[in-house]
Amino acid sequence: MPAQLTLALVGCGAIAQLHLPAVRNGATRTAITAVVDTDESRAQAMARRTGARPFASLDAALEAGGFDAVDLMLPHHLHESAAVRCFAAGKHVLLEKPMANDVASCERILAAARRAGTVFQIAENTQYWSEVLAARRMIDDGALGAIITAHASFALPPMPEFYGAGAWRLDDASAGGGIALDAGSHWIRPLRLWLGEVDEVVGALGRPWRPMQGESLVRALLRFRSGVVASLDGLMKDAPFADAPMFRLTGQRADATIDRRGRLVLWDAAHPDGTQLEVAGGGYLESFYAQLADFEAAILDRRPLAAPAEFALGELRTALALYRSAASGRWEKVWD
Ligand SMILES: NC(=O)c1ccc[n+]([C@@H]2O[C@H](COP(=O)([O-])OP(=O)(O)OC[C@H]3O[C@@H](n4cnc5c(N)ncnc54)[C@H](O)[C@@H]3O)[C@@H](O)[C@H]2O)c1
Repeated sequence: MPAQLTLALVGCGAIAQLHLPAVRNGATRTAITAVVDTDESRAQAMARRTGARPFASLDAALEAGGFDAVDLMLPHHLHESAAVRCFAAGKHVLLEKPMANDVASCERILAAARRAGTVFQIAENTQYWSEVLAARRMIDDGALGAIITAHASFALPPMPEFYGAGAWRLDDASAGGGIALDAGSHWIRPLRLWLGEVDEVVGALGRPWRPMQGESLVRALLRFRSGVVASLDGLMKDAPFADAPMFRLTGQRADATIDRRGRLVLWDAAHPDGTQLEVAGGGYLESFYAQLADFEAAILDRRPLAAPAEFALGELRTALALYRSAASGRWEKVWD
């Protein structure tokens, strides 16, 4: 088994700026040997920072070789073709969420992964977020009592690095939707880690931030297979937001919240005004480190991933069911 993993960074845009420190800090047996971006200046800039060989296209990089794995950080509509080509070349693939914009495309990617027999991971960093995992342990330990409900809430400004003029996210054809399908996965995954699988959803969408074709307002209820109903709220607007926790878990004995700074707070009989819990593991940003460490260990040590790639279908299917619900006005099943 090789002692070192060689990796190509494909797409050197916004999220690559977080994956680079994650490789350096989390995947210490990984060497970045190729960097790819159709925007030559971005590929060159990443090459200068890493010492890797720059390429202007994925095909040119695959042709040249010199890496065992790829980290695909591309606009959503390019995920399928890039992943399928990498699997055909026998590469291990880390693919940013969502796997693709529709389920059929995901099935084709999964089939290509099975044929390759290499490691396939979807980069959903909240799978590794220490406060989310600590809240899961609180549920398991009974600290909150039986869970009654949960609330996930996100409020995003349209940051120029993601939503600037001409950005692919503004266009449904490339983004596949708005904030429910895109950033929403980072709120839906923790809910699934805490409450199990989503059975059905009902909701309404809006577009308060007009430059984006997709939704910039989400109001939804998610009924889990356990019967627990949680709510999901998302909003994007180009103005300040009132403070509100990102997550609230409500149990028969206590509440837990994760506030907008990512702090985990317990609200129980001993702490009716809330007490912040110390959580080892480094918080939200370091979830990216653990994500890259997991990918490396799956390849070099043959360790199972924290979540198989298929698990990421859950966030995509939840968002797509929500889109159907907004059109039908009814509860829509997530998995049928
Ligand atoms: N986990 C998170 O918190 C998080 C945050 C942001 C983005 N993401 C995900 O990361 C992915 C990329 O998003 P982003 O915000 O970094 O986008 P981005 O637009 O900032 O970066 C994408 C890069 O890909 C390059 N590119 C476009 N077409 C290409 C091609 N055919 N071959 C090679 N390079 C090409 C672009 O020039 C750009 O530099 C998306 O799947 C997104 O959902 C995840």
